Amino acid sequence: MSGNHTFTIIKPCAVKSGYIGAILADIQKGGFEISAMKYVQMTQAQAEAFYSVHKERPFYGELVQFMISGPVVVAILKHGNAVEEYRKLIGATNPAQAAEGTIRKKYAKGVQENAVHGSDSDENAAVESNFFFSQCERF
Ligand code: CMP
Repeated sequence: MSGNHTFTIIKPCAVKSGYIGAILADIQKGGFEISAMKYVQMTQAQAEAFYSVHKERPFYGELVQFMISGPVVVAILKHGNAVEEYRKLIGATNPAQAAEGTIRKKYAKGVQENAVHGSDSDENAAVESNFFFSQCERF
């Protein structure tokens, strides 16, 4: 995985609110191509493993419960300088601090229910993409 890819999750809050289509439209308007995508219900063990980097944080338990509260859309996105460009498109983790027009500003409910996940480095983009997709599921 090069710097041309990032990984995203459309979280349960945004799925339940009916924002899948609007968020995918914003992603494509932002110039990102979809390299891989699927609709999944994570198990508790999968959510714990995916967010294991946060396991010492006070919000870890709640975050895991939130992420398994319903299905999510997971996707690998392609764009030059993908990680940084996608973080600009989605805005700050806390939607109260997210810039106008960003995905989190438009669709997030709070710091936990923040509509989407975006990888924070090329290394994590590769780890997170490999967590959900095999080689023959990406294009
Ligand atoms: P995400 O980008 O998926 O990475 C870690 C997630 O933890 C983050 O989005 C939020 O959903 C959640 N998170 C981060 N900070 C907090 C916080 N202070 N309280 C609750 N949840 C948080």
